[in-house]
Amino acid sequence: MKQEDFWYIVAEGHELKKNQVISRSILGEWLAVFRDDAGKVSVLQDKCLHRTAQISRGKVTNGQLQCPYHGWTYNQTGEVTAIPSMGESFKPGSKCAKTYEVIEQEDYIYVRLASGSHETRPFSMPCYKAPGYTTIRLQNVFKNNVTNCAENFVDIPHTTFVHPKIFRDAKHEKFGAHILREEGRVKVTYKNEKKNFGWFSWFLNPTGEEIGHTDEFFVPNITSVHYRFSGQNHFIITSQSIPINDEETLVYTDLTYNYGIWTRFSRPLVRWQAQTIIDQDVEILNNQMKTIKKYGAHFQNSPADIIHTWIESIQSEVAQGRDPKLLPRKETEIEFWV
Ligand code: FES
Ligand SMILES: [Fe+2]
Repeated sequence: MKQEDFWYIVAEGHELKKNQVISRSILGEWLAVFRDDAGKVSVLQDKCLHRTAQISRGKVTNGQLQCPYHGWTYNQTGEVTAIPSMGESFKPGSKCAKTYEVIEQEDYIYVRLASGSHETRPFSMPCYKAPGYTTIRLQNVFKNNVTNCAENFVDIPHTTFVHPKIFRDAKHEKFGAHILREEGRVKVTYKNEKKNFGWFSWFLNPTGEEIGHTDEFFVPNITSVHYRFSGQNHFIITSQSIPINDEETLVYTDLTYNYGIWTRFSRPLVRWQAQTIIDQDVEILNNQMKTIKKYGAHFQNSPADIIHTWIESIQSEVAQGRDPKLLPRKETEIEFWV
């Protein structure tokens, strides 16, 4: 297995209107993503067969993508259907651009760079459009790689340093966690987490009961954090980290939650709080990558970092072309202070 075998979000569905084209980069590959007049999305390598202009700078007319340089025209399957300088003498079907598989699911457009691979469907976003739930979508660019981003999204010890007040204040409380690595996934189940969500606690968890908190990582780029508070309150943060290249990651974040009668009403506040927290993470992750570029990544670990080393063990299998689902199942318990 390699990184190209997985499905990656290339855009939110509503970002791409009919007869519109956008350019994107995933794993260093340039992509022209366009939607035809019937609503079908196609992804071509963003390079004209003729003289290598970027075709995403062109336009879509009658559902076909036209290069901005000499007007070579491509249909949804990448076939050249017209070469204006050849007029009627051009016979369509003789030239074809490189295309990629596309799936639209849950208002995301997914692309896969490798053909004929094993991952048959993209990840399904938890509780998306489930009764009682709402979803807020955010996009943020991190100047760091996918693994460091994903590790940050399931890292508790940084929260009191990077997000005091707005997320979690240091209380020197002992946390316990059970960690499981299985099937290309790391699942962390926390214990003893109670009322420590800054000024939000009174609303989210008024009775102060233990919070059901799990963090999961799914190979190669997805994290999903679940908080189950007292009552029906349930908050899920699912992030798909898309590698633009080795140093830049576009993160799509779904904040999906059910706060009963407060669900709709709280949207602006939830959006603002999450974006503020993400801005703080962007800053620290940009800092980390800048330093890695100067000194290299020589990481040392505390017990709470076992989560990260297990994520790295999965990522390393993919980097070496192996199937991480074949790694042996492992589980352990850790303790740390927050
Ligand atoms: S480079 Fe695209 S038509 Fe000439
Ligand atoms: Fe964070």
